[in-house]
Amino acid sequence: MKDKMKKYFIITYGCQMNEHDSEKLAGMLEAIDYHKAEEVEEADIILINTCTIRENAELRVFGKVGELKRLKENNPDLIIGVGGCMMQSEKAVRHLYEKHPQVDLIFGTHNIHHVPDLIKRIEKERSRIVEVWDEEEGLIPDLPSVRESDFKAWVSIIQGCNNFCTYCVVPYVRGRERSRPFKDIINEVEKLVAEGVKEITLLGQNVNSYGKDFKENIDFADLLQELDKIPALYRLRYMTSHPRDFSFKLIQVIKDTKAVCEHFHLPIQSGSNRILKKMNRGYSREKYLELVNKIRQEVPEAAITTDIIVGFPGETEEDFQETIDLVKEVRFDSAFTFIYSPRTGTPASKMEEQIPEDIKKERLSRLMALQNQISLEKNQAELGKVVEVLIEGESKNNPETLMGRDRRNKLVIIPKKDGLIGEIVNVRINKVQSFTLYGEVV
Ligand code: 5AD
Ligand code: SF4
Repeated sequence: MKDKMKKYFIITYGCQMNEHDSEKLAGMLEAIDYHKAEEVEEADIILINTCTIRENAELRVFGKVGELKRLKENNPDLIIGVGGCMMQSEKAVRHLYEKHPQVDLIFGTHNIHHVPDLIKRIEKERSRIVEVWDEEEGLIPDLPSVRESDFKAWVSIIQGCNNFCTYCVVPYVRGRERSRPFKDIINEVEKLVAEGVKEITLLGQNVNSYGKDFKENIDFADLLQELDKIPALYRLRYMTSHPRDFSFKLIQVIKDTKAVCEHFHLPIQSGSNRILKKMNRGYSREKYLELVNKIRQEVPEAAITTDIIVGFPGETEEDFQETIDLVKEVRFDSAFTFIYSPRTGTPASKMEEQIPEDIKKERLSRLMALQNQISLEKNQAELGKVVEVLIEGESKNNPETLMGRDRRNKLVIIPKKDGLIGEIVNVRINKVQSFTLYGEVV
């Protein structure tokens, strides 16, 4: 008799890089004959892809692992695996291994290509396995992936980060920068576009470093230029870019190419030079403003967005005011705002003058109130305009409507109509909120 169909369920925390790794995990599981489960309860194997960027990301992971214990009690054959960034910490691995016997497999960020073999071993031996590598062995090989979308895809161009911003755990869990060969990226994008993909997002912790580790003289701007030659590629995005490495050449290339979207995500982190220095960001407030001005001059229709951390060690009310002033000056389209979270092993976690939680929260709410107001005012200027939207699917909050994004990455909602998902349409904006534009197809 044939075995019943085996099913997998993957739970992902964190950034696009993790989402993309989860697509690869899905691809590898399908290659060993697992099928996607619609509900977690049906799964024979559950993988959790973890994030460790801030403490609350970790708390959510532990909560989820605890929740899954019940499923294991009902089904002792269930395999539970936990992988990704958080597992690069010995402390987290030990805690998980000792306190959560329901977890069968622990793997890290450098060996996801081993997961199918590890699963096969667990199926055969019913043993618990921990396999985490301290370092990368070159690039993770190209892996098959199961894409969430038929018309949008992620393509990894560089792994790791060499910047060592003092608050950030990424360089420790993702290793050093390793660029993927130019030709491999071009081939993958060409293949995706031939399959009908309209929007590609190039992924890397710091895409502006692309090519620095090559013998040849190739940089990120060259890559964008080459990809732009693919005729049926409508939209090209990338993340994340570091303001320090964002050259004027790159702005020019973005201006001159058809596909690269008019959206600049440039994490400022703080508006105070003193704090930027302590963060080891490698640019000043003045340099950042110069970059923003150049972008506004060359690509006036572009959206500019950012990431900001409040409550970095030693941040005074004056430092914070400089962040507030910068936000008022730049008027970002939107901003991701974070409370500083000390990460074990990073220099900032050992700095004196850690800021009390209540002050951090109070600063965050002031900053968010300001940014929400600016986002709303910017969106109000969109009323009556026509924007180009790639319709992605039903909107989360209201199944009577569809959601998509315009080239500047602004979220747009339209009334539901058949045949629009995956299409690029023109939408006239007739209502706005801080985070959302509403309109009708014209
Ligand atoms: N605490 C708070 N925010 C952080 N980020 C990175 N590390 C930390 C930390 N320890 C934020 C930065 C980065 C974004 C992805 O997450 O703003 O740009
Ligand atoms: Fe972290 Fe800085 Fe690298 Fe971004 S550039 S991943 S914030 S160390």
